[in-house]
Amino acid sequence: MPLDCSQPEGYKAKMIEQLRPSTREEREKWIQQADYNLFNLHGDQVYIDLLTDSGTGAMSHYQWAALMRGDEAYAGSTSFHHLKEKVQELFGFSYIVPVHQGRAAEHALAQALLNEESVVPGNTHFNTTRAHIEYRQATAIDCAIEGAFQIEYQHPFKGNVNLLKLEEVLQSYSGNVPMIIVTITCNMSGGQPVSMHNLRQLREIAKRFNVPVIINSARFAENAWFIQEREPGYGSWTISDIVREMYHNADGMIISGKKDGLVNVGGLFATNNRDLFNKVRKYILLCEGYQTNGGLTGRDMEAFAVGLNEVTQQKYLDDRISQVYRFGKMLIDANIPVQQPIGGHAIVIDASAFLPHVSQEEYVAQTLAVELYVEAGIRGAEMGALLSGRDPITGNNRPVATEFLRLAIPRRTYTNDQLAFVANALRRIHDRRLTITRGLYIVHEDVNLGHLTIQMIRAEEKTVAV
Ligand SMILES: Cc1ncc(COP(=O)(O)O)c(C=O)c1O
Repeated sequence: MPLDCSQPEGYKAKMIEQLRPSTREEREKWIQQADYNLFNLHGDQVYIDLLTDSGTGAMSHYQWAALMRGDEAYAGSTSFHHLKEKVQELFGFSYIVPVHQGRAAEHALAQALLNEESVVPGNTHFNTTRAHIEYRQATAIDCAIEGAFQIEYQHPFKGNVNLLKLEEVLQSYSGNVPMIIVTITCNMSGGQPVSMHNLRQLREIAKRFNVPVIINSARFAENAWFIQEREPGYGSWTISDIVREMYHNADGMIISGKKDGLVNVGGLFATNNRDLFNKVRKYILLCEGYQTNGGLTGRDMEAFAVGLNEVTQQKYLDDRISQVYRFGKMLIDANIPVQQPIGGHAIVIDASAFLPHVSQEEYVAQTLAVELYVEAGIRGAEMGALLSGRDPITGNNRPVATEFLRLAIPRRTYTNDQLAFVANALRRIHDRRLTITRGLYIVHEDVNLGHLTIQMIRAEEKTVAV
C-alpha cells in the first residue's frame, strides 16, 4: 500500500544547529586531506550528514527532561531500573545489562560463546557483528533470501532469513553453532524488514537444533512497523504488541540504542536465560562497567528508557518511515537505481548501475560517495568492497553482492526540503554520470573494520605515480 506522504514532518524545532555551507573548491581540498575517507571529515565540513542514523537523531523534550532525572548511583541506579522495566515490558526479557553501544554487546556475546570452531549464521550480518565473530576466529555465514540484493526485486520482507540455507548450515556444522543472529531490520540490504512468519519458522528450526536465537535489534520498531503494514493479520495490532510477539521468537537480544532507542549513546543485552546472561555479563563487567550501568551514565539510561517508549508510538513511526519513503520516491522518479522496496532507515543506491564506467576494482560505491560530497557537501557511507574488507590471505577484495552507497536518515533531524536538496544533487551527478570513469585506490588499510581508517587516492594519481 503506498504510504501517505502528504503530511509534513511530525515535529517542530525547539533548538537549532546552524549548517555551514562550503564551496566545491573547499570540499575538493578537504576530501583530499581526508584521504578520500569520509569518516575523516570534520563535522563542519559536511553540509548534510547521512553517514549514519546511529546516535545522530534528535532527542525529544521529554528525553532532555529525563536527562535531569538521571540517577547517577554507581550501583542500582533508579534510571537503570526504569530502563529494565521498559525492556521487560516491551521485549519480555528479565535479565538485562546495559552497554555503551551496540558493538560492546556484540563483543561480550562473541567472547562468551565463540571459539575458532564456531559458525554463526544470520540473515546478513552487520559489519560490526561480523567483525566480532571473526575476531574470535569464528565464521559468520549470511543466509539472505534469493534476490535480497537485487534492487528491483520486489519482496515485502527482503531481510528474511533463507531458512533452507540456514538448515543446511545447522546440519553441516552441527554442534558448532552456538547462536543464530537475526538483524532487524537488515541494515546491509538497506533497512529491509524480517517478517513475523520468518521469525517464527526460524525459531522452530533453531529449537530442533537446540541453538539460541539472538535478535540484533537496532531497528526493531521500524521492523515492527513493516510487519503491521505488510504482513497479513497484523494490520490492527499495536506496534508494542508486534514487538512483544517478535521477541517471543528469540532467546535474547543485543541492541544499539543509538537507532531505535532514540538516544545518542547506549545499548544493551537482554535475555531470559540466566546461564547465558551470566556468561555475557562477565565480559561486560570486565570491559564496560558495573552491571547496572555498563559504562552509561544514569541520565543516558533514563533518556534511553523514554526513547524506547517514544519509538513505538504509531505517529512517530508513520512520520519516520514516510519521510524515508518520500526521499526514496524522489530518487526512483529520477531513475536513480535504488534498493526497492524502500527500507526503514536508509536509501541505498546501486553504485555500479549509477556509475557504469567505474570498475568495481576502483571502489565504485566509495567513488560515488566522494562525488556526492564534492558536489554538495553530503556525506553517505560506502557499503561494498571497502566495507567487506580484503581477504587476509590473498589480500584481494572479498566478493560482494553489491556496491551500495547508503544514505542513512537520522531520526527527527533533517527536513523534507533538505532531503529534496540531496535528491537534486544526486540528479545532477546522474545527468553527468557517463563522464565519471575513474575511481579510487587504497594506499593504507588496517585489518579489523579497516574501512573506518582507510587511506585512498584518486586512481588517476596512482597511474601517474606508476
Ligand atoms: C544492525 C547493527 N548492528 C550493530 C550496530 C553497531 O552498533 P553501535 O554503532 O552502537 O556499536 C549497528 C550500527 O550501525 C547496526 O546497524
